Amino acid sequence: MVSSSIYLKLCFTFFFFWIHYGPASAQLSSTFYSSSCPKALSTIKSAVNSAVSKERRMGASLLRLHFHDCFVNGCDGSVLLDDTANFTGEKTAGPNNNSLRGFDVVDSIKSNLESICPGVVSCADILAVAARDSVVALGGSTWTVPLGRRDSTTASLSAANSNIPSPFLSLSGLISAFSSKGFTTKEMVALSGSHTIGMAKCSVYRTRIYNETNINPAYATSLKSNCPSSGGDNTLSPLDATTSTVFDSAYYSNLINNKGLLHSDQQLYSGGSGSTDSQVRAYRNNPTTFFTDFGNAMIKMGNLSPLTGTNGQIRTNCRKVNSG
Ligand code: HEM
Ligand SMILES: *[C@@H]1O[C@H](CO)[C@@H](O)[C@H](O)[C@H]1NC(C)=O
Ligand SMILES: *[C@@H]1O[C@H](CO)[C@@H](O)[C@H](O)[C@H]1NC(C)=O
Ligand SMILES: *[C@@H]1O[C@H](CO)[C@@H](O)[C@H](O)[C@H]1NC(C)=O
Repeated sequence: MVSSSIYLKLCFTFFFFWIHYGPASAQLSSTFYSSSCPKALSTIKSAVNSAVSKERRMGASLLRLHFHDCFVNGCDGSVLLDDTANFTGEKTAGPNNNSLRGFDVVDSIKSNLESICPGVVSCADILAVAARDSVVALGGSTWTVPLGRRDSTTASLSAANSNIPSPFLSLSGLISAFSSKGFTTKEMVALSGSHTIGMAKCSVYRTRIYNETNINPAYATSLKSNCPSSGGDNTLSPLDATTSTVFDSAYYSNLINNKGLLHSDQQLYSGGSGSTDSQVRAYRNNPTTFFTDFGNAMIKMGNLSPLTGTNGQIRTNCRKVNSG
């Protein structure tokens, strides 16, 4: 009798610890907000749809924010923190400064969520859901977003400068940049398909259009009027010259035609002889395969070192750490 009641207590104790500190709390779940904030997903979706209907490029900008969040010490909302007199965030890092956008849209989503369920939905989760909703709003296929990330109280300018891949990388540089985050080459090629939407600045594609030979000559010429050999650094051109506001597989057709805008883009296709060329052709020929692989790779990206359980916090304002 005595021993069985001790046994029961041990069971309860173990169960309590398992619930609170076991693997269940470290794992994201797509139903994380279903009782704590049942309208979270519909609130984010309607804000994204309205932002995208005002400006289609915003879908691209929101997708990129999630990438730049996750590649820098995990998907923890660190990219959203503003610099202050005594805090250095990631916004002025080379890949981010004068380039990341969509912060106002995230603020407005956050304030809508704070008014329906205060202190519940993290900024990191907002980015993950907004990225998915953006792709869908621009014509891509959906995926289910695992949820339950929490927000960081720190940011890392130096990690932002070193972990986000440069557009001047070679194929082997791209492969190792993604491999260091746990991605296969195949997943890297799928994630790069993000560049089927959005814009880039002259400063990141200038060398490609003036100095590279693996570029369609008419395409290079057409870009030069918008991007002089010096000056005009911030002039934008579409990453996908054909359908930059539609999430489709045109990015891969462009590569086959030597019309990748960034040096790094064109690295994925080298006239049939490159190690990733067959995958580029497969995605061009079969957009459905691209969509499926893209969604799975996005889920994997969203799983990069999330803060869960009692780690981190749920920021009230995505731009700053909660005070007190
Ligand atoms: C493969 C390595 C990658 C490199 C080298 C790279 C680099 C870049 C660069 C240089 C730009 C233009 C920024 C500017 O000129 O302001 C850009 C834009 C963009 N990137 Fe990437 N990127 C990569 C992967 C990704 C991934 C994995 C995603 C998303 C999952 C992504 C999403 C985007 C989007 C959507 C834009 C357009 C943003 C806008 O119009 O606001 N990129 N990227
Ligand atoms: C940091 O600066 C802000 C003003 O920008 C101030 O309110 C806050 O108390 C400071 N925090 C610390 C830890 O010094
Ligand atoms: C960021 O861009 C601004 C111009 O908007 C520039 O003044 C500043 O020096 C840049 N910061 C860094 C760290 O490059
Ligand atoms: C092209 O290459 C030449 C020779 O290396 C260099 O001097 C020039 O600055 C480059 N131009 C651009 C736009 O990158």
